[in-house]
Amino acid sequence: MPLLEARTITKNYGSVEALRGASFSIDAGEVVALIGDNGAGKSTLVKCLVGAEQPTSGEILLDGEQVSFDSPTTARRMGIETVFQDLAVAPDLDPAANLFLGREIKRKGLLGALGMLDKAEMRKQAAERFTTFGVTLQSLDVPIGSLSGGQRQSVAVARAVAWASKVVFMDEPTAALGVVQRERVLEVIKRVRDNGIAVVLITHNMPEVQAVADRVEVLRLGKRVARLTGADMSLENLVGAMTGALTQEEAA
Ligand SMILES: Nc1ncnc2c1ncn2[C@@H]1O[C@H](COP(=O)(O)OP(=O)(O)OP(=O)(O)O)[C@@H](O)[C@H]1O
Ligand SMILES: [Mg+2]
Repeated sequence: MPLLEARTITKNYGSVEALRGASFSIDAGEVVALIGDNGAGKSTLVKCLVGAEQPTSGEILLDGEQVSFDSPTTARRMGIETVFQDLAVAPDLDPAANLFLGREIKRKGLLGALGMLDKAEMRKQAAERFTTFGVTLQSLDVPIGSLSGGQRQSVAVARAVAWASKVVFMDEPTAALGVVQRERVLEVIKRVRDNGIAVVLITHNMPEVQAVADRVEVLRLGKRVARLTGADMSLENLVGAMTGALTQEEAA
């Protein structure tokens, strides 16, 4: 039984059919690359799986049980974290506050009542996490909105990895990253996988796919058209599946 499974998901935006019966599955402790051309439906599938969008039809199963998430917050409570392609960070908050958004650490107040936010502790833990990711910030006192695109992306990845207990979706997490930060993110993906968590990586970078993915699922025109693993993840096969030159009947 897969950890998370999508069965024949459709998603229409007015007359646009973004997903036309897309299926997907991932096991615990697996890195699956979800690849496909621009507009193939990758981001839409992720949004449907994490409650950011509601599918028009189809089923989602977590640990074999049918689920429906009304929002990404609900999915997060079930251990599913997401780095969205359009980075859902809070631009007015500083990096530590973003890392702990919705999970703030509070100090014990008088008589054990929950007191003020423990900003110092959050700063300390955030600084450690950012070091792990090679995020170099000149100051932790700035709103996220004033960071570079790559710095924001690293903060979003750090946040997702910090809290996921079952699945992490990363929609093009390395697109804006420099060489060093990209390598760090790939290392972190492997480490998360080795802790038994499932990682779904969306990327257009095929060497990155070959470096970290245990398997590949390919979307084309809103449908899964291929599932590849091991030696079948050659550049020729990956590109062939994305362009339609290679088809696998059993993938759908
Ligand atoms: N909110 C929306 N309203 C209308 N159409 C949408 C919306 N979101 C996505 N689409 C359409 O759905 C299709 C799939 O888009 P999606 O963003 O899922 O593609 P993608 O595979 O993530 O592409 P990319 O690699 O460029 O990120 C596209 O044709 C897109 O125009
Ligand atoms: Mg996308």
